[in-house]
Amino acid sequence: MRLRLGVLISGRGSNLQALIDAARDPDFPAEVAIVISNKPDAPGMERARAAGIATEVIRPKDYADKPAHEAAVTAALAEAGVGLVCLAGYMRLLSPFFVDCWYDRLINIHPSLLPAFPGLETHARAIEAGVRFHGCTVHYVRVEMDTGPIIVQAAVPVADDDTPDCLAARVLEQEHRAYPLAVRLIAEGRVTVEGNRVAVRGAGLADAVIGPLA
Ligand code: GRF
Repeated sequence: MRLRLGVLISGRGSNLQALIDAARDPDFPAEVAIVISNKPDAPGMERARAAGIATEVIRPKDYADKPAHEAAVTAALAEAGVGLVCLAGYMRLLSPFFVDCWYDRLINIHPSLLPAFPGLETHARAIEAGVRFHGCTVHYVRVEMDTGPIIVQAAVPVADDDTPDCLAARVLEQEHRAYPLAVRLIAEGRVTVEGNRVAVRGAGLADAVIGPLA
């Protein structure tokens, strides 16, 4: 049976789309079982519906507090038989309750080479810092924002005349490769977490790295 993914979104959903597209291949070892948004008008919800995937809007304002909202999200994920939760542009900070509940079954994609540039505006900050390489990271989620064991990274070069927008586009292209790769490695049972590091069984260097080395 394929690993059942629960994807949490708040917006565009292009990474969700990359996972949906990857799962069209019957040999891909995971499938998107449910997409949950905290925003009713998230464009990504249409992508899920177009692919015939179950969707649920779970709005924080419909709940008394954050624990109640997160309990509802957890219940929906469990109900859908989800084995791995993928954050894909989900713009809400998760509480320790939620992180604990899905410990080592909860991953995120972040648009920088962590631990550089956690938080927002990563592309502008990378340009400002003058780094020559930038990229994205798929990592297990821990309570502190944008931390946790790194599963896959993809690097892109930064050009002298890059704007945040064109750098973002170059990184996004790699995000769409990195997220399905990380999910595949996990679904194949090849990923183990050892402290703050991930080991990928049977992997050559190129298995968890996308970019100049791969
Ligand atoms: C991506 O850049 C992702 O790395 C970040 O939020 C953005 C979501 O984009 N966490 P999309 O909704 O997947 O298109």
